[in-house]
Amino acid sequence: MFTNQTHLQHLLRPDQYTSEEQYRAELRHLFRPAWHPLAVKADLARPGDFLTFDLLETPVLLRNFNGELRAFLNVCPHRHSKLTDRPRGNTERLRCQYHGWEFNADGRTGKIPDAKAFRPWDRDNSCLKRFAVETCGDVVFVNFSENPVPLREWLGPVWGPWQDYGGDYRHAATWEREFPCNWKIVLENSLESYHIPEVHPTTFKEFSTEENSWHELTETFTSYRTVPPNDLPTRSANWLVRRLGRPVENMYWHRVRHPHVTGASLDVMRIMQCVFPTGPTSCRYRSLLFTLRGARRGPLAWAIYRFLRPIAAAVARQVFDEDGRIYGGVQRGMAASPHRGVIGTREERIFHFQEYVIRGTRGPRELGVVADGA
Ligand code: FES
Ligand SMILES: [Fe+2]
Repeated sequence: MFTNQTHLQHLLRPDQYTSEEQYRAELRHLFRPAWHPLAVKADLARPGDFLTFDLLETPVLLRNFNGELRAFLNVCPHRHSKLTDRPRGNTERLRCQYHGWEFNADGRTGKIPDAKAFRPWDRDNSCLKRFAVETCGDVVFVNFSENPVPLREWLGPVWGPWQDYGGDYRHAATWEREFPCNWKIVLENSLESYHIPEVHPTTFKEFSTEENSWHELTETFTSYRTVPPNDLPTRSANWLVRRLGRPVENMYWHRVRHPHVTGASLDVMRIMQCVFPTGPTSCRYRSLLFTLRGARRGPLAWAIYRFLRPIAAAVARQVFDEDGRIYGGVQRGMAASPHRGVIGTREERIFHFQEYVIRGTRGPRELGVVADGA
């Protein structure tokens, strides 16, 4: 059942999907305090493994230092070069690509070529800027703020369910794409099933009925769950799940921790997706896919696990691509729209997301003005 029985206002105006000012406010108030799922533990399994990202106007380097994951601003304190431009790699030491300054696990300098040229040593201004790193299941999160709340506290009700992104589920694929649209268009698309018959006519049969749908709506988190149709693909998937030694829940869940982290789950797979603004009208959408490995061992279980991975990846990517074809047109429509928009009861999670955006970027007063001014 949906929580609301009448339509809702589209709280955000079209210009809030195009404006530089809104983008700046979102970066500062919504994204700066947030935790970002950037990698899985397997990406950084060996000492010296590193990944780099350019996200939210922040170059980041995430590295394994003898088993401990640390994140730093990917900018050298000597003369501001990025430490490395490589997206990933393995190096024995963390060394700047420009003049070869080396840094240890706490971000302090190690070996410096011709160090005497820098006497007297300015200790306070020679450290890398460090960011907090925490994990939930196998997913590695990074936070760019000075004093972040612990990840567990920030994730709140999704901490428990997202623990099994790892464990019984193994990382199968990571992919990302840039889209020519505001990040909220991508996020809002993920929060409703109303578009399914038009956008995914062959991938899914129909959207679920209201009797078969449940929403949970809170200030920072919403969820949707439904029972998958009792058709051949579902029954086959359930058979595979049992063969892998996992009880069948037979439920589809979609959860979002605002502003930008979503997790979808079926018994055969888990997928965590995160959308990052790269400008007022552009974004990057990143997906981490996990498929069921289960507790059972032996050749049959191994074969099922290996069989499930490419199928789940192909279906997930198809859904991702189908949604991806819509975003550009929504953005172009936003730029020219004279309408205020409307949100149906099936789309009520979007209303809660928009409340969150307005509350976070403008404060409750504006929310009151917009909500009362219908
Ligand atoms: S800029 Fe990094 S060592 Fe010079
Ligand atoms: Fe979709």
